[in-house]
Amino acid sequence: MANVVVVGAQWGDEGKGKIVDWLSERADVIARFQGGHNAGHTLVIDSKVYKLHALPSGVVRGGKLSVIGNGVVLDPWNLLQEIETIRAQGVEISPETLMIAENTPLILPYHGELDRAREEAASKGTKIGTTGRGIGPCYEDKVGRRAIRVADLADHATLEARVDRALQHHDPLRKGLGQPPIDRDALIEQLKQVAPNILQYAGPVWKVMSEKRKAGKRILFEGAQGALLDIDFGTYPFVTSSNVIAGQAATGVGIGPGAIDYVLGIVKAYTTRVGEGPFPTELQDADGQRLGERGHEFGTTTGRQRRCGWFDAALVRQTCATSGVNGISLTKLDVLDGFETLKICVGYDLDGTRLDYLPTATDQQARCVPIYEDVPGWSESTEGARSWADLPANAIKYVRRVEELIDCPVALLSTSPEREDTILVTDPFAD
Ligand code: IMP
Repeated sequence: MANVVVVGAQWGDEGKGKIVDWLSERADVIARFQGGHNAGHTLVIDSKVYKLHALPSGVVRGGKLSVIGNGVVLDPWNLLQEIETIRAQGVEISPETLMIAENTPLILPYHGELDRAREEAASKGTKIGTTGRGIGPCYEDKVGRRAIRVADLADHATLEARVDRALQHHDPLRKGLGQPPIDRDALIEQLKQVAPNILQYAGPVWKVMSEKRKAGKRILFEGAQGALLDIDFGTYPFVTSSNVIAGQAATGVGIGPGAIDYVLGIVKAYTTRVGEGPFPTELQDADGQRLGERGHEFGTTTGRQRRCGWFDAALVRQTCATSGVNGISLTKLDVLDGFETLKICVGYDLDGTRLDYLPTATDQQARCVPIYEDVPGWSESTEGARSWADLPANAIKYVRRVEELIDCPVALLSTSPEREDTILVTDPFAD
């Protein structure tokens, strides 16, 4: 397969970083197509830890083109800081290895301020639990046709006109939230200063992607967050503000849908969620605490403790369908070591009716009671397993049951953060 899309199939934090890094070694181009620096991808290479937020994971590998597509929202100052941090770890980043789409909307300081002010003002039940990075307000501006985009940085008159247009919208909003108006001149000055540093990486990503595709180059589309945070198919309104599912890979860089040959869904062997919103299999007991401790479930971006629960096969079956997942990478199986019995959610009871999917209406979601199947656990360690023979029989049974219930095969099994600790069943890039 020439081109592979990697998407999170739960609420994010499924362990995409390791798999993307593993695949990026064999890709020529690695492209981010949605989200922004709300993401946090951790790569462990030769025991060295790299934490990436807006940069595609391919940057740490030499000789690749890393792309930030138009579907992303970009904080220019944060990106430059991230580039410096990664450079300090010995990684080379240059306009030859990094390209930013000219039509990418910029996250500006007022987006973060608005995001955080709204969250602070929100009452219980309406708080989203965002990362506070300004993601939602920036996407709102994009759709509202008042965003400032990378290309606008190149011309001062355009930039000033765009800022004026944005302020017409934002100043009244800020007034309502008790915030001072934006200092127009200071903002324009800040943007003029940052412009050359960003513009050196800017280009027509859609054109380069088309050329790479025609030249038979392998493209890896690197998704961020997870399908249950998708603006359309996630647990709305407790979602992020972008389309996260695989179809977005095409619009998020400007390539036809036919360019996608294989969709790999990343699935954690249990479930976690950061932020507010429904979570039918959440555990607020010792088992949940144990999953969190063993799985080191703290956010890479915000450091927040993640909510933990049993594996929800009904939800993953749903996300495999909406992203057209061809195979999954099952991660963190080792976190389940030592449980006597494991539970898998196979559907929901809604007012006495059995459902095999989570309904869309918020009130119905709240009334859904998970229907569990008990699966025997295992006492042996699966950490670092590199072949099926290294796995206890019950761990294999668990994996096989997951495949049956989600109606999708396992392509990769990850048993530790180290890249070698992976069992390969199907190579997503194989022809
Ligand atoms: P936002 O993307 O900052 O607007 O946050 C919206 C929701 O998505 C919140 O529940 C966040 O916790 C969640 N979220 C955003 N990015 C990530 C991520 O990379 N991993 C997990 N959850 C995320």
